[in-house]
Amino acid sequence: MTSEPYRPRRSVLYVPASNEKALAKIASLACDAVIIDLEDAVAPGAKAAARERLADILAAPGRRCEMVVRINPLSSEWGADDLLAVARAGSDGILLPKIGTPRDVLEAGDLLDDNFASDSVKLWAMIETPKALLNVGAIAELGRDPASRLNCFVAGTNDLVKATGILATPDRRYLMPWLMQLVLAARAGGLDVIDGVANDFRDLGGFARECMEGAAMGFDGKSLIHPSQIEPANRAFAPAPEALAAARAIRDAFARPENAGKGVIAMDGRMVERLHLAAAEKLLAKAAAIRA
Ligand code: COA
Ligand code: MG
Repeated sequence: MTSEPYRPRRSVLYVPASNEKALAKIASLACDAVIIDLEDAVAPGAKAAARERLADILAAPGRRCEMVVRINPLSSEWGADDLLAVARAGSDGILLPKIGTPRDVLEAGDLLDDNFASDSVKLWAMIETPKALLNVGAIAELGRDPASRLNCFVAGTNDLVKATGILATPDRRYLMPWLMQLVLAARAGGLDVIDGVANDFRDLGGFARECMEGAAMGFDGKSLIHPSQIEPANRAFAPAPEALAAARAIRDAFARPENAGKGVIAMDGRMVERLHLAAAEKLLAKAAAIRA
């Protein structure tokens, strides 16, 4: 469960572990998190070499953002070696692809517990198979137990399209029910949840719209494939200036002496309750964390 202070995850950029040019760029990028990919972005023949490079990649100077590594599935020939190599190299998180059940997350946690004393490495999970979607509530529930290490969900929309046979449309209409279910489950488990990628990285107008939509759906951030997507994602998933002004007004109203004992007040003809005050304070804290 995320009882730690708010940590922005507005922009989460995939960087293939086998792409030296892209890796060299990380220190200069303003994304909140990077996912070094050992899975689908790395060809089978390049996987072992990519794994060997991990320690250097993660130790590179100037790293500012949260560093997560996506390993290969534990059921594959590379998965277990990936997991142990990442934990040794010291990333902030390990992203598990193609999971289907709570057991798949627990298995990764057990492997970490058996080999490393520290419990600081968090687990992230891709929700990208039909089975994971059917089990998403039970998987999310692991977030309530810190021992599970589960901290964040990532929507794997390309794999979901492939596995289900739905038509991928620009408005994502057939994905929408599953994405909303994913956000709901993440909230029930106290997890962060990151929206899927937009493949068309030259269409920044369409990308900005998809980010606004993801933010409105309740996602904490967006998975990215290209540096040009960072700035629009950071903007869309940060609190909007109007929302911050409204939050300040609510905080100030409840701080007035005449409202001290009140559970509900009227502001400009609207009912405002203490639950709105709590939401306003959360939003202001989020904005402060992003500024920091
Ligand atoms: N991370 C860091 N840097 C990246 C990057 C990424 N994901 N994608 C591109 N760049 C860099 C390029 O290396 C290039 O650097 P340069 O200015 O030093 O030459 C610059 O950004 C511009 O790149 P561009 O030429 O526009 O794109 P490209 O043709 O080199 O790469 C992709 C396009 C899609 C192959 C590349 O963006 C990519 O591999 N993205 C991640 C894919 C991935 O991880 N998929 C798995 C998860 S869905
Ligand atoms: Mg995938």
